Amino acid sequence: MKLDPWGSGALEDYERLFGEFGIQPFEPLLSRMPNPHRLMRRRIIFGHREYDVVLDAMKAGEPFGVMSGFMPSGRAHLGGKMVMEEVIWHQHMGAHAHVAIADIEAHVVRGIPWERCRQLGMEEYVLSMIALGLKPDAHIYFQSASESIKSLALELASKANLSELMAIYGFSGETSIAHMHAPLIQSADILSPQLTQPMPVVVPVGSDQDPHIRLTRDLADRMNMLSVFQDPNGGGVKVYLRDAPREMLEELTDELINRFGITSHEGHIDVQGDGVSAEQVLQEVQRAARTVERRHGGFGFIPPSSIYHKFMEGLTGGKMSSSKPESYIALTEPPEQAAKKVMRAKTGGRTSLKEQREMGGVPEQCVVYAMLLFHLIEDDEQLTEIYTQCRAGERMCGQCKQEAADAVYRFLKEHQEKREQARDMLDEYHILM
Ligand code: TRP
Ligand code: SF4
Repeated sequence: MKLDPWGSGALEDYERLFGEFGIQPFEPLLSRMPNPHRLMRRRIIFGHREYDVVLDAMKAGEPFGVMSGFMPSGRAHLGGKMVMEEVIWHQHMGAHAHVAIADIEAHVVRGIPWERCRQLGMEEYVLSMIALGLKPDAHIYFQSASESIKSLALELASKANLSELMAIYGFSGETSIAHMHAPLIQSADILSPQLTQPMPVVVPVGSDQDPHIRLTRDLADRMNMLSVFQDPNGGGVKVYLRDAPREMLEELTDELINRFGITSHEGHIDVQGDGVSAEQVLQEVQRAARTVERRHGGFGFIPPSSIYHKFMEGLTGGKMSSSKPESYIALTEPPEQAAKKVMRAKTGGRTSLKEQREMGGVPEQCVVYAMLLFHLIEDDEQLTEIYTQCRAGERMCGQCKQEAADAVYRFLKEHQEKREQARDMLDEYHILM
């Protein structure tokens, strides 16, 4: 199976991502979270990479970040709202929030004119995020306006080569150079929250974006001047110099000597911790290495973490697609029109009322139920009740759709009012454009 960040291949079999790509299941982390987000509780956020470090920082009151990007190539729909909510939730949990409007990507990959990128970025994304609760201390920027993103992308580009990008993205001899550069811009987006100081950063995305995450995690590591890793043969933690001045190892030794046993070699050191877990030693050495590295003008990046959410099926069944307006609901579309789409949506109901009463519906195959699950009902108990009633044949689709349609209507109406208020609040926000 191939994950394609620019295609719209729906992924049915999320479980396979665990074994095949090394995405970890999210579920075991839930018990460590004081008040998980609806999308987490409902297992819609199903996987992660190294989210533990973000959680640790969050719980310890240490700095951490959340970052995601939106391509301004069309209307923002309910799928995009999930990412927005995830960014906002982390910001409310104390994260430094960074939001990229990926206008370079939209322009060079999709051919969207700059002016249109600007308009879609503001109208479709920025206003809706503010309406959904993004606070003014967020860093919002258009890629094309950020010099730091462009120069970081160039640094990262010097650590990535053509064959690797071809293997990850399927680039060929026909791919334009600008298109090839787009993933490096995106990696710069993801690492940019750490330009001021190294910190754990979570990137909430759909699983189609995982190739970018893997590339960025690799690049983050390749950028670092010191390579820190656990000796696979049980010899403690090793630190190697990479293209860096020798004094760095001496400085690192000074940082660690009071706590650990250290043996120096030509070009590397070995660190041994007595009575401290291997994991703990590794973490402390990494932390010290980053401090030394920053002193020497390096970045000291922590590999970014990620969380992955499932995609909702299109309203009419099949994929949600921007070329099929019946299949999705945009955040800016007229509420009455959205309500009508819900009334026409695919359900998991039986062919007759009699059958529905006898056999019950199939909420697992019902897009109306998915709307409630993903978006429209916050209260878990209320949702469970709907589920149980549907299965038990106590719920009829006509009535159920009507309720969902009303809920969509109310949500959009309120959201759009908040968007108008957001327009008047824009000057409280830092928007680099
Ligand atoms: N490539 C993403 C998309 O197609 C958009 C994006 C740009 C992004 N920069 C990002 C996503 C940084 C996550 C993090 O939607
Ligand atoms: Fe879906 Fe509701 Fe019908 Fe059940 S009753 S299948 S949840 S529309």
